[in-house]
Amino acid sequence: MRTLLSYVGVSIVSLLIVAACADARQPLPACEWCGAADAPPDDQLTCQVLIAPDEEPGERIVLRGRVFLPDGETPAPGVLVYAYHTDATGVYPMRGSETGNGRRHGALRGWLRTDAEGRYEIRTIKPAPYPTHTEPAHVHVTLTPRGGQEHWVDEFWFEGDPLITERMRARLEDTGRFAGIVRLETNEQGELAAERDLRLRR
Ligand SMILES: [Fe+2]
Repeated sequence: MRTLLSYVGVSIVSLLIVAACADARQPLPACEWCGAADAPPDDQLTCQVLIAPDEEPGERIVLRGRVFLPDGETPAPGVLVYAYHTDATGVYPMRGSETGNGRRHGALRGWLRTDAEGRYEIRTIKPAPYPTHTEPAHVHVTLTPRGGQEHWVDEFWFEGDPLITERMRARLEDTGRFAGIVRLETNEQGELAAERDLRLRR
């Protein structure tokens, strides 16, 4: 019996290794920044996502707001939001089991679907800038409306980051409450949180 159990165990491990290796041999997705295709099934998505597990080192942050149609006024329910970012050392951490664009974006990524009011909430850690310090610390984000195309919006940058130059500020695609530079503040719940609304492209 023990032999049989060992055999089954070894077989399962072998299958997992083969599956992981098979994915490693697959070509990377043509789109470098996309992530919608890697999303879990809809029944596993809510309007909140926890990207960094508790054991991930770093300062805990919350990013929240609402997603709107291109008019900036009408809430957009059911939008798939994909986010990924570096860890507290500025690298995209790889665990070895990444699939799809996880092989580019690393393990600190997640998906959610906006609720009826277009709300979203991302709980994670504050990323660090790349070790080269060539770019501000950032969280990449894409939006995919139901039946529509995935597109990126300005990354989340963090007010006070010395790597944000005036030139970079001028290049931001969205402004006002949609602006990509957010201010993290401790709220009444003790969370270090920032609010930002997002807008689907026309
Ligand atoms: Fe990046």
